[in-house]
Amino acid sequence: MSSFAIEVSNLMKEFEVKKKNQSFWRRKRNEKEKFVAVNNVNFNVNRGEIFGFLGPNGAGKTTTIKMISTLLRPTSGSVVVNGIDVNKKPLEALKNLGTVLAGERSTYWKLTGKENLKYFAAMNGMTGKTANDKIDALLKRFSLDKRADETVEKYSTGMKQRVALAKALIAEPSIVILDEPTSGLDPQSARNLRELILEIKEEGRTIFLTTHYMEEADHLSDRIAIIDHGEIIALDTPQNLKKSLNKTNVVMLELNNWNEDIANTIKHIKFIEKVNSKFNDAAQKWQIKVHITNGNDTISSLISAITASGAKINNFSAEEPTLEDVFISLTGKSLRE
Ligand SMILES: Nc1ncnc2c1ncn2[C@@H]1O[C@H](COP(=O)(O)OP(=O)(O)O)[C@@H](O)[C@H]1O
Ligand SMILES: [Mg+2]
Repeated sequence: MSSFAIEVSNLMKEFEVKKKNQSFWRRKRNEKEKFVAVNNVNFNVNRGEIFGFLGPNGAGKTTTIKMISTLLRPTSGSVVVNGIDVNKKPLEALKNLGTVLAGERSTYWKLTGKENLKYFAAMNGMTGKTANDKIDALLKRFSLDKRADETVEKYSTGMKQRVALAKALIAEPSIVILDEPTSGLDPQSARNLRELILEIKEEGRTIFLTTHYMEEADHLSDRIAIIDHGEIIALDTPQNLKKSLNKTNVVMLELNNWNEDIANTIKHIKFIEKVNSKFNDAAQKWQIKVHITNGNDTISSLISAITASGAKINNFSAEEPTLEDVFISLTGKSLRE
């Protein structure tokens, strides 16, 4: 068996779209052009990891998920899950996958939560006590048991998302694919869902997760691929992605004293670039913001210089670079744009 859960090689998806931006006179009826939504994408997902697929809206995340889950045929390239080529043996491949698509009705809203799970269990050949026990356990685990006999249309967005996840887990797939799972959820429901995702990983399953929330990708993923305009522009652990940035660290200090001499001393320390000071009337403290260009290495020189000046440090904090900073440095634009 292959050592990877998912192997994506030279994956490409072109859509035919109506030709845009043509002058009226030159426009021919129904002229089509090709739009490349996923452009020669390569990555391998390790068994048991959470692989984050981070990118802005329209980057090609859902298209990639649909090609992995046999819902869309690639224009070219291949996807192999647990050693099975999804385009050659789709049914066999699907036995390894539990997929929850974004915003789509992957459950029946006129059925109750429990009926939904029973239906999907039956589709997977599970009936009787084994099925019922498993369904009850899933309902309980996903905090759906108290409202299991209400129709899904009455559920909150968070509950709908949990039924969809329970459904995806019924057949015990070794790989779980989640498309923007927390999108549209309130912060508390999103937090709960992220906890569930970590629990599912703890069971030994592999998770492929798309998101446009950098904090979510950072918090959950063992490794992250950043995708933009259909291309993977970076792939590493969240730590390495942030480290690779070598970004200006911003250090915030709260001091009981501040003057030109201290400012000048600090400004002359190597790798310190900008020093801003502000007196906070309410706290009767100086608030100083220092930009350091070589990460954390200069922090100790900064602290000794301040201590030597006689000023007292009341508070100290350092801002870490975020994946948003990584994205900006790679693309020149913000993830949220
Ligand atoms: N069926 C389709 N026909 C034409 N264009 C499509 C189709 N599906 C998706 N696209 C386009 O492909 C790009 C990637 O879409 P998608 O994979 O849904 O992005 P994401 O999930 O990252 O937001 C977008 O520009 C989208 O408009
Ligand atoms: Mg999408």
